[in-house]
Amino acid sequence: MSESRSTPELAAILKDPGFCRHSTPHTAVVDWDADTGWSQPRIEPRSDLTMNPATLGLHYGQAVFEGLKAFRAEDGSVRLFRPEDHGVRLARSAARLAMAEMPPELFVRACAELVAADAAWVPGGYGQSLYLRPLLIATEADLGLRPSRRYRCVILAYPADPCFGADFRPLSVTTATETVRAVRGGTGESKCAGNYAAGLLTRTEAQAAGYDEVLWLDGLERSRIEELSTMNLFLVWRDAEGSRLTTPPCDGTIVRGLTRDSLLTLARDRGIAAAEEHTTIDAVRDGLRSGRLAEVFACGTAGVVVPVGRLGIGAEDLTVGDGGEGPMTTALRGGLLDVQHGRASDAHGWLWPVPRADENGERRA
Ligand code: COI
Repeated sequence: MSESRSTPELAAILKDPGFCRHSTPHTAVVDWDADTGWSQPRIEPRSDLTMNPATLGLHYGQAVFEGLKAFRAEDGSVRLFRPEDHGVRLARSAARLAMAEMPPELFVRACAELVAADAAWVPGGYGQSLYLRPLLIATEADLGLRPSRRYRCVILAYPADPCFGADFRPLSVTTATETVRAVRGGTGESKCAGNYAAGLLTRTEAQAAGYDEVLWLDGLERSRIEELSTMNLFLVWRDAEGSRLTTPPCDGTIVRGLTRDSLLTLARDRGIAAAEEHTTIDAVRDGLRSGRLAEVFACGTAGVVVPVGRLGIGAEDLTVGDGGEGPMTTALRGGLLDVQHGRASDAHGWLWPVPRADENGERRA
C-alpha cells in the first residue's frame, strides 16, 4: 500500500524498507498517442491502473520495464544512477516489441521529477536506495494483433534495502536443462514482461528443490552459460598469474545489465583483466572441480552484487570456493556502492543530481 506517512512512520520504513514493501505516495506518468506523441511527465498520487480487459498490452504482451535507483550521499543530496542509460535500454526494449520509444531525455526527466517529489523517501543507509520501476505498456483496447496506438509509462518508487541485508547469504543456483529462456533473434535482451514469465515455471520448480535461482544456458546448443532469471553472471578465474573476470557477452539473448557494465568498467579501472566471453557449462564444472573457478557472483540493479555459493549442474551440486563470498565479489560490490553513495569519485559521470522540490512539490532552481 502507498499513502502519506507521518514522520515517525516514514523513519521506521526507511530504517528497514526491505525490497518493494512500501511504495512512495506518487507515480510519474507519461503517455504516448500515435496522433499527439509523448505527453509531459505528470506526478500523480499513486493509484491503480484502470484498463479495458481487451487492452493490447494484456493480450499480446507489449509490456517492458526498467529498474533503476536513486541514492542519498552523505551530504544528504540525492542522485540517480545512470538514468540516461536506463532510458536508452527502455527504448531498445520497446523498439524490439514494436512499441513507442520514449526519448531518454524525457525518461530521465520523469524519473527525476518523481524522485524530487518523494525525496523524503530516499533512505540514507549504505546500500539502501530508492528503487524506481518504470513500466511501459500498450493501453489501446483492441483484439486485432498489431502494435498499439497508445502507451502509458508509469514509474513506481520504493525505498529499498540491498538484498545483502541482514538475512544475506550466498545464492544456491541450479542450471536449467529442460527449458530455455531465450534464443538468438528472440526477445532475450529486451526487458519485456514475457521473458520473466517464460522463466517462472523453471525458477519456481528450482525454488521448490531448495535453490534460489536458475542459470540459463543458450537456447540452441544448451552448452554455454547465459544469465540468471533476475541477474547477469560473472566468473572469477584464479591461477598463479592472478585473477581474471569473465561474463557472457551481450549477443542478444541476455539483458544488457547496467550493473554488469559498471562492474566491468570498475574492474578494468582497477587493472583487473575482465573479458566478455562465452563459457561452456562444462568449463564451469571443470573450473569448480579444479578450483580454478574461484568465485561466481550475480549482479543486477535490484540485487547489486551477490555471491553464488552452490551451483547445481545436472545431478552434481558443486560448492563455489568455500561456499561463502570471495574477495573479488566483496571488492567490486564495495567499489560500486562507494561510487553510488558518493564516497568514491564518479569518474564515468554515472550520477545525475536530482533537483530538490520544495514543500509544495514545486521545483527549486
Ligand atoms: C532489476 O534488477 O532491477 C530487475 O529488473 C530484476 C527484477 C526481476 C528484480
